[in-house]
Amino acid sequence: MTYKVAIDGPAGAGKSTIAKAVAKKLNLIYVDTGMMYRALALFVLRQKIDLQDREKIVEACEKADVTIRYEDGVQVVVLNGENVSPRLRTEEVGTAASVISPIPEVRRKLVVLQRRLAAESDCIMDGRDIGTCVLPDAQVKIYLTASSEVRAKRRYDELAAKGEACDLKKIREDIEERDYRDMHRETSPLKQAEDAVAVDTSDMTKEEVVERIIALCGR
Ligand code: DC
Repeated sequence: MTYKVAIDGPAGAGKSTIAKAVAKKLNLIYVDTGMMYRALALFVLRQKIDLQDREKIVEACEKADVTIRYEDGVQVVVLNGENVSPRLRTEEVGTAASVISPIPEVRRKLVVLQRRLAAESDCIMDGRDIGTCVLPDAQVKIYLTASSEVRAKRRYDELAAKGEACDLKKIREDIEERDYRDMHRETSPLKQAEDAVAVDTSDMTKEEVVERIIALCGR
């Protein structure tokens, strides 16, 4: 049986930064499931499909082939043969991913891929439903969170460092809206698994969080 670490939590809690660092230290592959939802969202946006048109989205997703490969240990998302990783980290794609991710057909397709990856290699996987649905048998489950104020400030600093104009209040509103959607959908909503350990990173440095998770892994 492979070794699995599940990390769930709301947008901007630092899941991917932390999971990447833990993966490196513990020699695990890192699986970022949000990027898979983002790849399907990009496909839907490119087809100019109305995000409220469920039927069209399901139809489009049947034609979208999403796969993952690793280049120097870094996850690359391939959509119908194209490496789309550089296109996925925008607010537009993130919001569209949050809107299409409640659709059961969309989730079923990606969960198959996620479980296959976890069965093949020891991994740390992050998302919203990893501990509750995708990998209920993960040996370690973490629920990573931080206040919406701290998460908005981190995002603001990230954008400001890139020289992008941004409004802190608007970022916080978007984050809270996304939290609401991710937590209140019918299929696999974001919630802490009963056997997950909650880690609130609001007042922790990245190094402290990584250390805490490695200690929880006991490796
Ligand atoms: O983690 P992220 O911001 O890249 O994820 C984008 C959206 O995808 C998120 O708002 C909800 C959805 N998602 C999901 O429903 N289940 C997952 N396991 C991962 C992401």
